Amino acid sequence: MAVQHRVRDLSLAESGRHQIRLAEHEMPGLMALRERYTASQPLAGARIAGSIHMTVQTAVLIETLVALGAEVRWASCNIFSTQDEAAAAVVVGVEGTPADPKGVPVFAWKGETLEEYWDCTDAIFQWEGHDGPNMILDDGGDATLLVHKGVEFEAAGAVPQPTEDDNEEYRIILEVLRRSLAADGSRFTRMAPGIRGVTEETTTGVHRLYEMQRAGTLLFPAMNVNDAVTKSKFDNTYGCRHSLIDGINRATDVLIGGKTAVVCGYGDVGKGSAEALRGQGARVLVTEVDPICALQAAMDGYQVVRLEDVLADAHIVITTTGCKDVVTAEHLAGLRDKAIVGNIGHFDNEIDMAGLARIPGVKRTEIKPQVHEWTFPDGHSIIILSEGRLLNLGNATGHPSFVMSNSFSDQTIAQIELFTKPEEYPTAVHLLPKHLDEEVARLHLDALGAKLTELTKSQAEYLGVDVAGPYKPDHYKY
Ligand code: NAI
Repeated sequence: MAVQHRVRDLSLAESGRHQIRLAEHEMPGLMALRERYTASQPLAGARIAGSIHMTVQTAVLIETLVALGAEVRWASCNIFSTQDEAAAAVVVGVEGTPADPKGVPVFAWKGETLEEYWDCTDAIFQWEGHDGPNMILDDGGDATLLVHKGVEFEAAGAVPQPTEDDNEEYRIILEVLRRSLAADGSRFTRMAPGIRGVTEETTTGVHRLYEMQRAGTLLFPAMNVNDAVTKSKFDNTYGCRHSLIDGINRATDVLIGGKTAVVCGYGDVGKGSAEALRGQGARVLVTEVDPICALQAAMDGYQVVRLEDVLADAHIVITTTGCKDVVTAEHLAGLRDKAIVGNIGHFDNEIDMAGLARIPGVKRTEIKPQVHEWTFPDGHSIIILSEGRLLNLGNATGHPSFVMSNSFSDQTIAQIELFTKPEEYPTAVHLLPKHLDEEVARLHLDALGAKLTELTKSQAEYLGVDVAGPYKPDHYKY
């Protein structure tokens, strides 16, 4: 049967395959999991609907899930983050050709419209011969949201009319669900009970899951992959430390050394971002709302400021908060000429792009895709990266393979846990067991030449741990 797909161009597959091959070399965790589990096929019978940035690293994840027995359908979780050659290579597969693809269905390309994005998200839930997937692998929670809203509106018998407060994207979601309901009034209601669980990649998606758990609306078990130590303390921090600078450089090629950069938020992403900018020689200022993170920033040597007090100084402003309205239209208008503004948090509501567009007389000029100059009536202008969407994936190619090998090993193990041990994970949000978190770290040490010290039996007894771990109590902060 032909492999369903909506990608830019299958002839890019060869270039994608070469990049995937090199990425595999840098993803020892995922490759070790392939070796360990290919024979036993723990994901046989799993139908995974995946929604994560369709990058080269994600291609290695997808092919690992398939090697472990899963069937997979994939969309990207952002309109700008797909690497078209990776998407093509996954569809074509190792055995196929562009004329005769033999890989995995992918619905993603760089530069989707929001309508296309939600159609692609919907497409990962359409499984011939089944009501839908039995697993979700999500990043930011959009795929999970679609199922939950679908079930909610099917129960109500109708999709509500958008209100004045609903943004453009939510109107589009309502439209997708209106069409779905008209075609099949119980599609999501039939699908949801078959879903054994979702594994969620990022801070913002996890936040949504805990909100649903609190409200009692969560429909299936969820694994909080983000808060595995080997995910958030590595991908969010060291990944952004690499890919923030990559994004700024590819977008602008402006020398960062000597400039003043403001990092909004000093959580895991903010810490990596601030360090990267300092590493380039920038003077880094930090804004925070949390006194603990503000104090950490101060102790790390950054000046903690309020954004409105430093607008005239800032050459670069980066949001890393996962919050909304962090940089307002007023802030944007007050920035110095040619200031660069970008977001590396998950959603595009950290920078008020709609408010910017409403400033009377403001003009938008495309310098190149995902780089826009906004000129104010007084003649000064600012540069906005990726239209306020995450710039490390919009302007560059996201985190490098080695760090994603940690995150995606966590994802793979989380999928195996939820799929094979449903009795251990009731409908709630769960964390990856610590021994598995430690295992993921262990899988990456050899490649870096790191030699781990082993506890003696008597040392282990003295510390009250097992020689083989876990080495820390759950409340340990790393
Ligand atoms: P976090 O919760 O560790 O850090 C966010 C920080 O922002 C917190 O310390 C919070 O106090 C602060 N904050 C919140 N509102 C603020 C405001 N109005 N002004 C200043 N500071 C404020 O979260 P984490 O893990 O750092 O993630 C941040 C965002 O980045 C999330 O949306 C997450 O999903 C996303 N993310 C993006 C990645 C990428 O590759 N672009 C990778 C990993 C996460």
